[in-house]
Amino acid sequence: MMEWTDRHCRFFHRLLTRRALIYTEMITTGAVLRGDRARLMAFDPAEHPVALQLGGSDPRQLAECAVIAADMGYDEINLNVGCPSDRVQEGRFGACLMAEPALVGDCVAAMKGRVRLPVTVKCRIGIDDQDPEEALDALTRAARQAGVDALVVHARKAWLDGLSPRENRDIPPLDYDRVYRLKAAHPDLAIVVNGGIIDLDQAAVHLARVDGVMMGRAAYQEPWRLLAVDSVLFGAGARHASPKAAAEALVPYVERELARGVRLHAITRHVLGLFRGVPGARAFRRHLATEAVKPGAGADVFRAAVDLVVDMDAQTVQTAAA
Ligand SMILES: Cc1cc2nc3c(=O)[nH]c(=O)nc-3n(C[C@H](O)[C@H](O)[C@H](O)COP(=O)(O)O)c2cc1C
Repeated sequence: MMEWTDRHCRFFHRLLTRRALIYTEMITTGAVLRGDRARLMAFDPAEHPVALQLGGSDPRQLAECAVIAADMGYDEINLNVGCPSDRVQEGRFGACLMAEPALVGDCVAAMKGRVRLPVTVKCRIGIDDQDPEEALDALTRAARQAGVDALVVHARKAWLDGLSPRENRDIPPLDYDRVYRLKAAHPDLAIVVNGGIIDLDQAAVHLARVDGVMMGRAAYQEPWRLLAVDSVLFGAGARHASPKAAAEALVPYVERELARGVRLHAITRHVLGLFRGVPGARAFRRHLATEAVKPGAGADVFRAAVDLVVDMDAQTVQTAAA
């Protein structure tokens, strides 16, 4: 998610779940090929498994980017066919590619031809006045023929004409049934549903019908939910017993990054929602809001903020926040 899932966010989220697949922000092919690649694409080995999301529609450029990503060690390449912003439309990629399934197929085929990584597509169920049955079928057919490894479907249309990107995340109604029908029609293709999924109970309901669930805003705004992912969805041990333990585990990373010149706030802004329902959560947020933004703020500011919250195990947090 643009401006949200940068490398600091991803490192932090990986402290909360070993098993969930984590995605980068969308990075355009132009930025990969001509931008500050080290800054835009760097990731910590601890982030694995991590997928790079690309924005673009030129098959040759996308293939170049896929090779670069594979060389850097990314685990998956995901093509954005869902972003509705004007900038993206001008570049003729993102959600407007829903109207060009053959081109999406060419993009996927070009990437698949150059890398062994899984190549996936994140799309909508349609755009504007497209019929979601036909539009999603056409896109899926083209992507499948090109060898796509999975589709992540944001289960609502994007209205390119008239709605802002923000409105496009909430206003067009969700249609999970359309995604379930897609899965029923393509039982051997991995289908992941996205959009409006706010907790792991809802995720489990979807997982009875599709292969995966992608959580966006809920994962970012309420990261404490991720602490239960490994145990609830994967039957594995939780990475940390409590949000506080996870925050403490972030301290060495904070120290390392500050030593490299990163500002404290660039990391702690992603952590603000970690303590929902935990006594001391408000003091934690307030301390970071006032102190972490100050020039030269050090790791001690983060440590002091963490000291303000009670160590409450993840299970109790789930119950308290429910
Ligand atoms: C701040 C923000 C940035 C986003 N950036 C991207 C992006 O770069 N690529 C993408 O595929 N979706 C992006 N999205 C959309 C989300 O991935 C997701 O599809 C959408 O928010 C619906 O899922 P949710 O209800 O779980 O959040 C973004 C959403 C938000 C709120």
